[in-house]
Amino acid sequence: MNGSKVGRVFSGARPTGRQHLGNYLGAIRNYVALQDEYECVYCIVDLHALTTIETTENLRENIHEMALDFLAAGIRPEESIIFIQSHVPQVTELHTILSMVTPLGKLTDLPTFKEKVRQNPNNVNYGLVGYPVLMTADIVLYKTNVVPVGIDQAPHIEFAREVVRSFNYRFNTNVLIEPEMKNTEVPKVIGIDGKDKMSKSLDNHIEIADTPEETLARVMQMVTDPQRIRRSDPGNPDVCNVFSMHKIFSSPDEIAMVDVECRRAGIGCVDCKQLFAKNLNKRLAPFRQRRAEIEKDPNHVQDVLKDGARRARMIATQTIAEVREAVGLY
Ligand code: TRP
Repeated sequence: MNGSKVGRVFSGARPTGRQHLGNYLGAIRNYVALQDEYECVYCIVDLHALTTIETTENLRENIHEMALDFLAAGIRPEESIIFIQSHVPQVTELHTILSMVTPLGKLTDLPTFKEKVRQNPNNVNYGLVGYPVLMTADIVLYKTNVVPVGIDQAPHIEFAREVVRSFNYRFNTNVLIEPEMKNTEVPKVIGIDGKDKMSKSLDNHIEIADTPEETLARVMQMVTDPQRIRRSDPGNPDVCNVFSMHKIFSSPDEIAMVDVECRRAGIGCVDCKQLFAKNLNKRLAPFRQRRAEIEKDPNHVQDVLKDGARRARMIATQTIAEVREAVGLY
């Protein structure tokens, strides 16, 4: 481990393609910040994606676009490891070994599993049941100390800790490290529908790699205070998602101005949205510029992911050797 860093961080992200504001505020921003303190390993979990997706048609493109967003946002590949899960096949070996110390009932009791079954009753495959075991393998293969995830993943991290304890106890060893969870949840980012959490599948998202014009168009579609129908109606910023966004992306003076002027119909929703779009575009400009720079070299993303996998495999090979030894495999 690099001497100046306090431990190793690992996080996995499903390959969802171009990232949106929710991804940025909830995960990417933290991934970038953690690099200053930790040795970071960021994994694009393509195998996990296979547990739920119907087609792999867009898988490669989604991985590429997501990696591009991560790099443009400030993941530093000379320092951190960014790679694709299936490029380190040792994770599947560790998954199999860990599955032997995992009671089946524990997997089927998990709230995350029950939720997936509810969403997709016709695709309850074996891999889906084992999803948390594969996630545990991800984490422990890289001797992870800290896992930054949202609160929805808390049951998976607790599960991973239990599997590590079972494994170490059963084989009388301490080769596997119990990971700590670091909750990175920010206030829920609501989509442009003003109703649900921002997500690509609901098409209520704003992509960070859009052009300024596309961003403006998207912002103009945002649902505001439903009670404010005419321009002359006073509005209530407390129930308006555009105002929530101002609180993140605008200056204190602008936030105060919108708060006052909306309530007395001094500004209309169009003015308010234009100001937000302007500030959002200003904030995203350096990211977009870096993204365009990176795209000039068509092989850059591929090269980064390949080198990441090479470095990840070095750690994985070592861990697997220790695990095989501890288990007593021939
Ligand atoms: N289950 C995580 C999610 O849906 C993704 C994931 C896979 C992950 N492996 C991981 C997260 C390891 C943290 C660590 O978001």
